Amino acid sequence: MDPSQFEKMFAQANSIMGPFADMILQTARFPPANGEALVVLDQACGSGVVSSHIMSRLYPEDKARLDLTCADISEPAITQMRRRIEASGWNNARAVTNDAMSSDFPSSHFTHIFFNFGPQILPDPIAGLKECHRTLRPGGVLGLSAWQVVPWAADYRAGIATDPSLPAFPTSDQLRYAFSSTPEKWDTIHDVTKHLEDSGLTAIAASSMDNTTTMTIAEVEAMLPYSLDMMIQKFWTKEEVEKFKVPATKAIVSYLGEKYGTGPVVWKWVAVVACGKKE
Ligand SMILES: C[S@@+](CC[C@H](N)C(=O)[O-])C[C@H]1O[C@@H](n2cnc3c(N)ncnc32)[C@H](O)[C@@H]1O
Repeated sequence: MDPSQFEKMFAQANSIMGPFADMILQTARFPPANGEALVVLDQACGSGVVSSHIMSRLYPEDKARLDLTCADISEPAITQMRRRIEASGWNNARAVTNDAMSSDFPSSHFTHIFFNFGPQILPDPIAGLKECHRTLRPGGVLGLSAWQVVPWAADYRAGIATDPSLPAFPTSDQLRYAFSSTPEKWDTIHDVTKHLEDSGLTAIAASSMDNTTTMTIAEVEAMLPYSLDMMIQKFWTKEEVEKFKVPATKAIVSYLGEKYGTGPVVWKWVAVVACGKKE
């Protein structure tokens, strides 16, 4: 991916997930006023939304006590994160590839781990939380978020349903388990609190928040190769993906045109934001 494409992806990811990243930092009371070292992990960093919110939130004296690691399983994401770190002059940061369920980070190392829309994307989300618990130092804080409502799914499903020759878009229940193969739910404050408790964290603070985005249909079309692909690759056969990806995209874009007319596509994203502490 060329760097300008990555920056566009970052801008879109930031408009959707940035407010939740900010809420995680607020809930975690980051940065603490104790003047101690901040040894921070941006887990499943993607395009680096959390890291850029950390950087824009810190005063120079806080940046001087920051040691930031950005980690993701995706090599292309990490290559781009390294470019971003260098271009932004974050000399106290690094980007590494890592599996959030079993990393090679030392035990009791980080003061803070931020996992914005991470756990639900793992095959075994609880293994990811336990790994956070292992790598946090005593007194360390984990902050995370988990989707309750991902609004594009309803519009994509309705758009695809307008053309009976297309395979069905996955149901909400199928999407809930699109990535994980374990049975836990993540879309209530109660569920998320329990997962944090079961992973050994205490002093849990959890709440639900929403973020409304407005995009042009052209902007939605630009994100379709990622958002639609990610889902149909999971639920359609390889032959169906090859045969129906283009007509499915057309059906969605035409449905959006009918539904939203010349106005923006208005989507309300809802998520649980939660933090817990390692004793
Ligand atoms: C929804 S994105 C989250 C992005 C980011 N945290 C943010 O706030 O924008 C999920 C990220 O999880 C990464 N991911 C998926 N499986 C992973 C794993 N096992 N370990 C680490 N990262 C993983 C993906 O590569 C992707 O970048």
